[in-house]
Amino acid sequence: MSEQTKTSVATQEDKRWSMVETTMRRHGFQPRALIEALHSAQEAYGFLDTEPMRKISKGLKVPYSRVYGVATFYHYFTLKPQGKHTCVVCTGTACYIKGAQQLLNSIDENFKVKPGETTPDNKLSVLTARCFGSCGLAPAVVFDGKVAGKLKPGEAVEKIKEMVKSK
Ligand code: FES
Repeated sequence: MSEQTKTSVATQEDKRWSMVETTMRRHGFQPRALIEALHSAQEAYGFLDTEPMRKISKGLKVPYSRVYGVATFYHYFTLKPQGKHTCVVCTGTACYIKGAQQLLNSIDENFKVKPGETTPDNKLSVLTARCFGSCGLAPAVVFDGKVAGKLKPGEAVEKIKEMVKSK
């Protein structure tokens, strides 16, 4: 991976996290902001992964066990999906206008998997997010944690094929 790509991945990651941080700041980093912060994380990442949940626990000074408890109690929240690889398609306004739905249709046609589902071989989970904070890259998709942008349906399908081929 080139230095430039690494920087871009780090920057995109920061953007997603900074959206969660903004929510916590708006609530004065009070523990009662937990549900709001989890909502924000799910919208930015597409699901709740361990790392953002740990950072929320630290940011709001709430025990991780409680963060995890709340995340698993409400059906609205999705914990890290069971697929070995994840593909999160942003369906926020900018990405929607630029073709997010076509990406999802193409993924479904090729891999027979809809948002919120995992392929029967458990290799791929597909999710949607509300905004990664990278609207300039619309339509944006996060493949195994790495943001890719300005994707055409065929390119998204190729990226998934490469991803599921890798270990
Ligand atoms: S709407 Fe997709 S990244 Fe903002």
